[in-house]
Amino acid sequence: MSAESRPHDAVLNQPVYHDKVVRQFSIMAVVWGVVGMLVGVIIAAQLTWPALNFDIPWLSFGRLRPLHTNAVIFAFGGCALMGSSFWVVQRTCQAPLFAPKLASFMFWCWQAVIVSAAISLPLGYTRGKEYAELEWPIAILITIAWVCYAIVFFGTIAKRRVRHIYVANWFYGGFILAVALLHIVNGLSMPASWMKSYSVYAGVQDAMVQWWYGHNAVGFFLTAGFLGMMYYFVPKQAGRPVYSYRLSIVHFWALIFTYMWAGPHHLHYTALPDWAQSVGMLFSLILLAPSWGGMINGIMTLSGAWDKLRTDPILRFLIVSLSFYGMATFEGPLMAIKTVNALSHYTDWTIGHVHAGALGWVGMITMGSLYYLIPRLYGQTKMYSVAAIELHFWICTLGVVFYIAAMWVAGVMQGMMWREVNPDGTLAYTFVESVKATFPFYVVRLVGGLMYLAGMLIMAWNTVMTARQRPQPIAAAAPLVKPAVTAPAVATV
Ligand code: HEM
Ligand code: HEM
Repeated sequence: MSAESRPHDAVLNQPVYHDKVVRQFSIMAVVWGVVGMLVGVIIAAQLTWPALNFDIPWLSFGRLRPLHTNAVIFAFGGCALMGSSFWVVQRTCQAPLFAPKLASFMFWCWQAVIVSAAISLPLGYTRGKEYAELEWPIAILITIAWVCYAIVFFGTIAKRRVRHIYVANWFYGGFILAVALLHIVNGLSMPASWMKSYSVYAGVQDAMVQWWYGHNAVGFFLTAGFLGMMYYFVPKQAGRPVYSYRLSIVHFWALIFTYMWAGPHHLHYTALPDWAQSVGMLFSLILLAPSWGGMINGIMTLSGAWDKLRTDPILRFLIVSLSFYGMATFEGPLMAIKTVNALSHYTDWTIGHVHAGALGWVGMITMGSLYYLIPRLYGQTKMYSVAAIELHFWICTLGVVFYIAAMWVAGVMQGMMWREVNPDGTLAYTFVESVKATFPFYVVRLVGGLMYLAGMLIMAWNTVMTARQRPQPIAAAAPLVKPAVTAPAVATV
C-alpha cells in the first residue's frame, strides 16, 4: 500500500501527504550512510597502515578523504535532511507537498550529484576547496537540485493551512537559504575545461571566502538543518511539547546571526588580518550561548518524561545526540581561542572535534529521526526489531567515544610534542616521531569507526525487515507545542 493512501490519513481527517519522496530520501540516507562510513573506515585504516593505499591513485587517501566527507555530509546528511524536512513541513503546515513532481525530480537530481561525486573524486577531479570540491558541471547540478528543493519547501509553507510557522521549519528554511548563498558565493569560478575551473578569488580573499563557506557549512548544513529535525522528532518521540517555544525562536535568530561571522577561526595565524581573526574568535565564543540554548531546549523537552529514556532507544539516540552537540559546541569556542588553536590546529584534536559533532550529533540525531520515520513510511507502528535499535544505540555510542577520546589524546599529544624544545632551542621531537606515537590511537579510532559502521549495518538490516512487513494502522501522536503558547492547530500529526 502506498504511503499516499494510508488508512490513518482518512481516520484523522488530515490532508493526504506525499510521502513517497520522503521514503526515497530516507532509504537513500541509510544506503549512503553505510557507503560514507565504510569509506571513513577505509581512510582511518589507511592512516594507520599507509600500505593500504596500494599505490593505486584512485584508492589513495587524498582522493578517498573528500569522497568520505562528501558522502557523509551531502549524501547521508543531505538525504536525511531533505526527506525529513518534507515530512515535517507537510505535517506542521497541514498541507500536502507543493509540486510533488518537482520534489521527485529533485530527488533524482540529488542522487545524480552524489553518483557524479563518487565517480569524479576518486578520478582526481577537484576544485581543491574543502567541502566544495565538486567541479563546476556538478556544482551547477547542485544548484538546480537546490532551487527545486527551495521551491517545494517554501511552496508548501506558502500554502499552509495553519497561520503559524512551526520552529522546525524556521531552521530548515534557514538552512536552505544559507546553503544556497554559500554555494553560490564560494562556487564562483572560471571554467578552464569540462572538469577544471579556478576560483574567481585569489590569495587570502579566497581563503576567507572558503572558510566563511566551510564554517557556515557546519553552521547551516550540519547544525541548523539538524536542529530543524530535532525540533520535530524530539517532542514527537518524547510525547511532550517543546520545553520553551520562546527560547527556540531566540536561539534561532542568535544562531544564524552569529555563525556568519565565526569563519576566520579556521585561519588563525595566517595572512588574514589580525583583527579579522579576532572577530572570528569573539563570535565563536558568543556562539556557545545560542548553541547551548538549542541543546538545553531539546534535552529539557523531556521534562516530566525522563523515565522514557530507560525504555525507548529511539529517544536515547535523540537525547544523547544533543549531549554530543553540547560537547562539540563547548569545545568549538574553546578551540577558537587563538592560544588554544595554536596547540590544536593541524592536530587530530580537530578531527576529534569534527567527529564529536559528526558522529555524535549529526549521525545520532539522524538515526533517531529515521527510526521514527521509517516504520511510519511503511505503514508500521514500530521498527521490525526494537532490540536491534537498542544494540545499535550502544555499539554506536561506544564507537563515538572510542573515536573521539582517541583523537583528543592523540591531538593534544601531537601539539605538545611539536612545541617541545630542548634547552638549546632545537625541537625535542621530529615530526615522524609524533606520527609513530600516534599509531595506537589510530588503531583505537579504527575500532571506534568499525563499531559505528557495524551499528549502521544493523540499521540497514532493520530497515529492510521493516519494509518487508505488512502495513498496520498508526495511532495519533501528541502535539508539538504547548497550546497556551502558540496557535492550537499547530502540528498534531
Ligand atoms: C564510521 C564512521 C567514520 C569514520 C571511521 C570516519 C573517519 C574519518 C577519517 C579517518 C577522516 C580523515 C581524518 C584526517 O584527515 O586526519 C575523516 C574526516 C572527516 N569526517 Fe569522518 N568518519 C566517520 C564518519 C563521519 C560522519 C558520519 C561524518 C559527518 C556527518 C564525518 C565527517 C567528517 C569530516 C567533516 C571530515 C573532515 C575533517 C577535517 O577536515 O578536519 N565523518 N573521517
Ligand atoms: C559553537 C560551535 C562551534 C564552534 C565555535 C566551532 C569551532 C571550531 C574550530 C575553532 C575549529 C578548528 C579550526 C582549525 O583549527 O582549523 C573547528 C573545526 C571544525 N568543526 Fe567546529 N565548532 C563548532 C561546532 C561544530 C559542530 C556542531 C560541528 C559538526 C557538526 C563542527 C564541525 C567542524 C568541522 C567539520 C571542522 C573542521 C573543518 C576543517 O578544517 O576541515 N563544529 N570548529
